Amino acid sequence: MSLSSSMDFVPDAAEASQSERQSIAGRQVMAATAWHSLLWLVVANCVGVLLATMLLLPRIDPLLGDWTYGRWMPVHMNLQLYGWCSLPLVGFLFVVYGVRRVPAARWASPVLWLWSAALGVGSSSWLSGHSSGKLFLDWTGYSRVLFPCALLCLWGLLAAAFVIEYRGRTSSLLTARTLKFAGLALLLLVPALIYIASSPALYPPVNPDTGGPTGASQLESTLVIIAILLLLPFGISDRERRGSPTIALAWIVFAAECLLSLGLGRADVSHHKPTQWISLGSLLVWIPLTPAYYSGFHWHENTRRWRIAFLCWWSILVPTGWMLFLPGVLDHFKFTDGLVGHSLLAMAGFVSSLLIFVLVQLMGKDGWIFNRSWSFYLWQASVAAYVAIMFFAGWREGSDPSFSITPGPLRNSIYALRLLLGILILVASLDWFRNASSLLGETNASMPRQIAAVSS
Ligand code: HEM
Repeated sequence: MSLSSSMDFVPDAAEASQSERQSIAGRQVMAATAWHSLLWLVVANCVGVLLATMLLLPRIDPLLGDWTYGRWMPVHMNLQLYGWCSLPLVGFLFVVYGVRRVPAARWASPVLWLWSAALGVGSSSWLSGHSSGKLFLDWTGYSRVLFPCALLCLWGLLAAAFVIEYRGRTSSLLTARTLKFAGLALLLLVPALIYIASSPALYPPVNPDTGGPTGASQLESTLVIIAILLLLPFGISDRERRGSPTIALAWIVFAAECLLSLGLGRADVSHHKPTQWISLGSLLVWIPLTPAYYSGFHWHENTRRWRIAFLCWWSILVPTGWMLFLPGVLDHFKFTDGLVGHSLLAMAGFVSSLLIFVLVQLMGKDGWIFNRSWSFYLWQASVAAYVAIMFFAGWREGSDPSFSITPGPLRNSIYALRLLLGILILVASLDWFRNASSLLGETNASMPRQIAAVSS
C-alpha cells in the first residue's frame, strides 16, 4: 500500500460535500504544482533558445548589453533544475504528506509562489552578474537566503500537514508514519545544506586528468537518482502482489552498490584507475532491473506512454553515460558538445519523462494535460535528434578542438539545427503549459470560497 493511499480520507455518507471539497482542493493543489513546474520549464526553454541563438549568431550579443551568454547560462541551468526538475517532486511530497487535503491545501499555493519568487530573485541576481561561480549552486546574496527560506516554508507546510493527519481521524500505518517522520528530519537538513554548499570555498573531489567528477562521485550521484527511482512508487502507487521478489531484489542490489560506493572513498582520483570505471559499470545492472521493478506496481492508465519513455531513456542513458567515462573516451569527449548531448539526454530525455510520469500519476485523470500525441512525440523526437547531433559535434570537436569555436558550414548547420530543435522542444512545453493553465482555471473556478481566499 502506498504512503499516500494508506491514509486516504474515507468519508461517511453524511460527509459527501466534505469529500467533494477535499477532492477539488486536491485537484487544485496538483494543478497549481504542474502550472508552476511548467512555467519554469517554458521560461528556461526560452532562455535555452536564446543561448542556442547566441552560439549560432554571436552578432546579436551586443544587443543584450551586460546580459551576456555567461550570465544567461546559470539562469537556464538553475531554472531547469530548481524550477522544472524540482517542483514536480514538491508535488510528490504534497501527496505523501497529505497537503492535498484541507486545511493544509490552502497553503500549497503561497508556498509555490514563494518558491517561484526565489527563482525570480535568483535569475535577476545571475543576470546582474552575481553568482557563487559553482555550477548548480550559483545562489549568492539575497537569493542564497531566500531560496533556503522557501525550502523551510515548504518544510513547515509538510510538518503541519503531518501533525494535522496525526491528530485527525485519518488512519495511517505506523511504518508509514515513522518513515514520514524520518523523511521530515532529513528534509530539514536540505535548506542548510544548500546554503553551505553554495559557498565558493567548498569543493568536491576532482578527477586530476579532466578536472571533472571522479568515478566514485559519479557512482554516488547516480545512486541518489536510483534511490529516488526506488522510493517514488511507494509514495504514489500500490504494489502488485507478484512484484514482491523483484522489488526485494532491487533493494538488495541497491544496498550492495552503496557498500561498493563507500569502499571507493572520497578523494581526487583519475578515471584511468580500473577500480573507478569498473565500479561505475556496476550500474548497468539497473537497465533490466528498473523496468522489472516498476512493473511490480499499479499505475494509472494515463501514465503508460511516459513510463515507457522514461524507461527507454534510462536504458540509453546508463550505458552511454558509462561508456563516456571510459579511459580514452572521456579524454576525447570532456568539455565538448558531446557532454552537452549527454546532459540533455539525462535531463530533457530521462528526468523530464520521469517527472511527467510522476505528475500524471499524481494527477490521474487531470494528467491529460501531458497526453496530446503531437506534443509527446515532438518532445521525444526533438530531444533524441538534439542529443544525436551534439554527440556527433562533440566527437568532431574531440579530434579538432577548433571545430565548434570557428564558424564553418558543418558547425553552423549543426548549430542551426540545434536552434530549430530547441524551438520544437519549446513548442511542446508550451502545449503542456497552456493545458495546465486551463486546468488551473477550471479547478479554481470550482473551488470552495474558503480555500480560494488563501490560494489567490
Ligand atoms: C528549448 C530547448 C533547449 C535549448 C535550445 C537548450 C539549449 C542549451 C544550450 C545552448 C546550452 C549550452 C551548451 C554549451 O555550453 O555549449 C544548454 C546547456 C544545458 N541545458 Fe539546455 N536547452 C534546452 C532545454 C533544456 C532542458 C529541457 C534541460 C533540462 C531539463 C536542459 C538542461 C541543460 C543543461 C544541464 C545544460 C548544461 C550542459 C553542459 O554544460 O554539460 N536544457 N542548453
